[in-house]
Amino acid sequence: EKGGYDTFMLKEIFEQPTTLRDCLRGRITGDCSRVTLSGVELNKDRFLQAERITLVACGTSWHAALIGKRLIQDFCQIPVEVEYASEFRYGNPVLNDRDIVIAISQSGETADTLAAIQLAKDKGAFVYGVCNVVGASIPRATDSGTYIHVGPEIGVASTKAFTGQVTVLTLLALAVGQLRGVIDSSTVQSVATALNAMPGTIEETLKCNDAVQKLSMFFTYAHNFIYLGRGYNYPTALEGALKLKEISYIHAEGYPAAEMKHGPIALIDQEMPSVIIAPSDSLYDKIISNVQQVKSRGGAVVAIVSKGNTAMKDIANFCIEIPDVPECLTPLVASIPLQLLAYYIAVNKGKNVDQPRNLAKSVTVE
Ligand code: F6R
Repeated sequence: EKGGYDTFMLKEIFEQPTTLRDCLRGRITGDCSRVTLSGVELNKDRFLQAERITLVACGTSWHAALIGKRLIQDFCQIPVEVEYASEFRYGNPVLNDRDIVIAISQSGETADTLAAIQLAKDKGAFVYGVCNVVGASIPRATDSGTYIHVGPEIGVASTKAFTGQVTVLTLLALAVGQLRGVIDSSTVQSVATALNAMPGTIEETLKCNDAVQKLSMFFTYAHNFIYLGRGYNYPTALEGALKLKEISYIHAEGYPAAEMKHGPIALIDQEMPSVIIAPSDSLYDKIISNVQQVKSRGGAVVAIVSKGNTAMKDIANFCIEIPDVPECLTPLVASIPLQLLAYYIAVNKGKNVDQPRNLAKSVTVE
């Protein structure tokens, strides 16, 4: 049942080329000129009239929501907010029938997310679900939605569901942007083409496995970690840190890289390694200078860089290369080495990665 892998988590990490193929199937036209999601098609008026979109979720799904915010802002020009479901439900949110609330949940059973949906519906918002488990409570409670179709996720630490959520949010942003006529066709064409090729791109990315396993040995006994990213990859940093916390029980924090100098850099010394997500995107030059600041305080640096990057090799202790993709898709590829890094550090420590202590796969109570 683990398909020859030692753990469900490793199986699910390596399954991502297949699960993303399933997630994309039938949603991008053959010529990559259009994205169609039935949940958007069937509710055109709601998406045309929307004045604001609020994304609600917990944990890893909340990290996907942060990436979704940026995608929807870039492609749909609608104001977007992201809330933890637990904060949203007790935060007296101001909503009306021009609001869309998108609830993201792998299990479809998370209690806080379900309660947030009920509240949003009571206030007249249109509620859209992005879920994995077909027929679960959340897809039943929402007005419409899109399944991520990545198959059962058994490992408690979410991996393939996260990449499926980010993929569906990308499709949704493209579909709604087209519907509202605010995205140009060349952007749709280039992002849809790269998204369509993502299963193969992830396959390619997974070749970093052996290098990540090797470098993980240097960090088995670390007590703390900092993950840094900017723009689209600030949420990737948060997700990388959460994976490490969950399964290896190492304290890890994710920060937007530029926030370092506002406090956290005080933590950096030889005992505090950093993981820096630095693809060759619009913020690359800025993140290089953030890395130099960390490096000069003696902390070890693991950098996730685009293929062919040379500048970072002189600064970072370890560089992991990821394929070049459009900026908005970099979280999908950058999260692969972070999943593997957390995995191997936990395995080095002899931890049970599929069932980490204190955690449940679905959190059905508050
Ligand atoms: C992290 C993880 C949790 C879940 C969170 C939400 O690896 O699995 O943080 O993401 O409990 O669960 P769902 O998506 O089922 O609502």
